[in-house]
Amino acid sequence: NMDFHNVLKVAAGVALGLGACTLVDWQGRTQSAGGRHLSWKQAALGVPASLLICILAGLSVIAAHRLYELLFCPLELLRAPEDVGYIAEDGRSKAQTANQVRRRRKIGELPPVYPNGWFRVLDSHLLERGEVKNVSVLGEQVAVFRAQNGKAHVLDAYCPHLGANLAVGGRVLGDCIECPFHGWQFRGGDGKCVKIPYAEKVPEFAKVRRWPSCEVNGLILVWFHCDGKDPEWTVPEYEEITQGKWVYRGRTEHFINAHIEEIPENAADLAHLGHLHTPSMTSGVDLRYTNSKTWEFLRHDWKARWEPESEPNKHCSQMFVEHSLTVFGLHCPLLDVDVVARQVGPGLVFLLFNHYYFGRGLLVHCVTPVEPLLQCVSHTMFYQSNVPPVVPKFILRSESIQFERDVMIWNNKKYNPKPVLVKEDSAIQKHRRWYSQFYSENSPRLKLQHDSLDF
Ligand code: FES
Ligand SMILES: [Fe+2]
Repeated sequence: NMDFHNVLKVAAGVALGLGACTLVDWQGRTQSAGGRHLSWKQAALGVPASLLICILAGLSVIAAHRLYELLFCPLELLRAPEDVGYIAEDGRSKAQTANQVRRRRKIGELPPVYPNGWFRVLDSHLLERGEVKNVSVLGEQVAVFRAQNGKAHVLDAYCPHLGANLAVGGRVLGDCIECPFHGWQFRGGDGKCVKIPYAEKVPEFAKVRRWPSCEVNGLILVWFHCDGKDPEWTVPEYEEITQGKWVYRGRTEHFINAHIEEIPENAADLAHLGHLHTPSMTSGVDLRYTNSKTWEFLRHDWKARWEPESEPNKHCSQMFVEHSLTVFGLHCPLLDVDVVARQVGPGLVFLLFNHYYFGRGLLVHCVTPVEPLLQCVSHTMFYQSNVPPVVPKFILRSESIQFERDVMIWNNKKYNPKPVLVKEDSAIQKHRRWYSQFYSENSPRLKLQHDSLDF
């Protein structure tokens, strides 16, 4: 498949190059047909003309490559923490601004910072067999590796021997990870040390903490519970992805400086749709300019409701969204999209897209706390394989524009434990009550100290 696409790419480049040549050649002919006196000009133009042909051919190849990428390759949009959602003051870099906002911002009275539940650590396709990666989750360092049999494991990253990081230079051997420092080997399935190359005996207590993990819908997830309890529910599998009917079409990644609960609360905050997300996506993500007159004629309209599910799925809730687009007040039905966003636990949302013409797909939205007030949010797009990739890529890009407007709010806001609400905001309180099930007595809270970590 990849080979075929490469051939296509080269063919497109050659075709465009030839097209350019023919054009120049044809121009030359019409000039020489004009009369004998032009031939000196033609001769003088010889060298620059062939140069021009080369440049044009080169540009054509680049253009063809870009077009190919746009049409066929998955979208990858990875933002650094200071990239989105800050207003830089004069003379300050984006990173300086972000750090200053982080230091000065009022924190407010926060709920616990790490709820109990499943959280994404990596997308499946980012971890090859025999590969190990270091990931920061919930204030911890973990080593995520894929055993030779294909199974992914998550262990605490620090070796119990002298504390080397297993994920930095460690080797995967069978279903074990070997420490880069003295070569102790730890089994993925339970974290037990199974071999110390220079010792006669492996002590019983030599082991690292193993995180319960699972791999489903193209994601590697870990279970966190503050009391070390086993998973209380499972992550639903979408058969269309497992069976390959819906395929990977791209991902975005953002880092947000806010408490985790702020992000899912958005789903129950129905009023913000009609304000923050109504200006068309062409008016961008900087909230100072999103209400500009230029794009006033394009508007998104939203109809939405939010409700929790009942037993045995009380850890789930659903948001039903109907999106439509109006141009000069006229409804444009081609961009009507129905979305059911099913939140599963504190950190996962599955957004099912259904379009009467462009088919179906799933956008997986994951929030993983990296630090108490730093969230990694990923969106991974899977879509019907028979729909041109440009369609899901467009959906993903549009979603990320709307999302980046929220990021600007989150990065600068304070958590308000006692908000002043009106009747129309009632779903927000319902959401807070629903979300509180993910905290328990021993859930970690933010220790009041100013972190001095800079980007
Ligand atoms: S620190 Fe890991 S084997 Fe010594
Ligand atoms: Fe939003």
